[in-house]
Amino acid sequence: TKPRVLVTREIPEAGLRILRESCEVTVFSSERQPTREELLDLLPNFDGLLSMLIDSLDRPLLEKVPHLRVISNYAVGYNNIDIQAATQLGIPVTNTPGVLTNATADIAWALLMAVTRRIVEGDTYIRQGQWVGWSPNLLLGMELSGKTMGIVGAGRIGLAVAKRARAFDMNVTYSNRRRLDEAVEREYGLTYVDLDTLVRTSDVISLNLPYNAESHHLFNADLLSRMKPTAYLINTARGPIVDEAALVEALKKGQLAGAGLDVFENEPSVHPGLLELSNVVMVPHVGSSTRETRDNMAILAAENLVRVLQGNRPHSLVNEEVFS
Ligand code: GLV
Ligand code: GLV
Repeated sequence: TKPRVLVTREIPEAGLRILRESCEVTVFSSERQPTREELLDLLPNFDGLLSMLIDSLDRPLLEKVPHLRVISNYAVGYNNIDIQAATQLGIPVTNTPGVLTNATADIAWALLMAVTRRIVEGDTYIRQGQWVGWSPNLLLGMELSGKTMGIVGAGRIGLAVAKRARAFDMNVTYSNRRRLDEAVEREYGLTYVDLDTLVRTSDVISLNLPYNAESHHLFNADLLSRMKPTAYLINTARGPIVDEAALVEALKKGQLAGAGLDVFENEPSVHPGLLELSNVVMVPHVGSSTRETRDNMAILAAENLVRVLQGNRPHSLVNEEVFS
């Protein structure tokens, strides 16, 4: 009999097709996520799980479903899963790196250009009928050429953001847990600096690091207060890397010039202070949301899942230790 697979939310057909070739597939819903209770109720009937980044798969939940043979997360980030618990229970966890690198770097740049050139303000201005004629001082923004971009987290996405920055003639610095090879630094034109230096010297800061205990509230009131008052913060990584209440305060005090946000501390809630600030541009966690990327994420997540069920190595395994 075919292995049974639960997909918590409808994903593109390109992935479902792959799953159906060798599995019995149940899609929970196209409208909403299963609740914790619903997951606990359903999972005993399944061999594999294809999860979304908002499915919270913590230790107490995983300990109730140790029979799971694979968890395939439809995201590059996997902070929604207790990896240590999954590893101890012998459950391989996979993610979707690579296929969403360009889409996510693009949205970082879309937010950066929107906030520095005041695109949303300009659009609103026209729609509200406020535009009465050309003016030398209307909606002045910040030029990017010659400015310094500081990238926090130089993985695939951080490097793709850097590549775009170079095309805009920006100077690019980065901080990272470990320094990159010199050849990579040279290829991308990167200068390695410590985080404090990066924060103090950047005109634009792009967050591209994973969320974990170490990066929780990394950008707190203290660090935000060290930014240049003319600088912008772009977060396309995970909301809780930034203390959102502290960000609102810092913006109100003018400790930075603006922010572009794809992710939030308590999604789908947004700090009400952000809604009142015209120098903040926000999109609802859509970094990987191009048709091309979502198809490729679906294919990769499906292939990862099927490969593990068939006893093969998945393309992208998070917990190496568990696979032997
Ligand atoms: C999106 O946030 C992802 O981690 O893929
Ligand atoms: C992971 O965060 C990546 O850069 O793909």
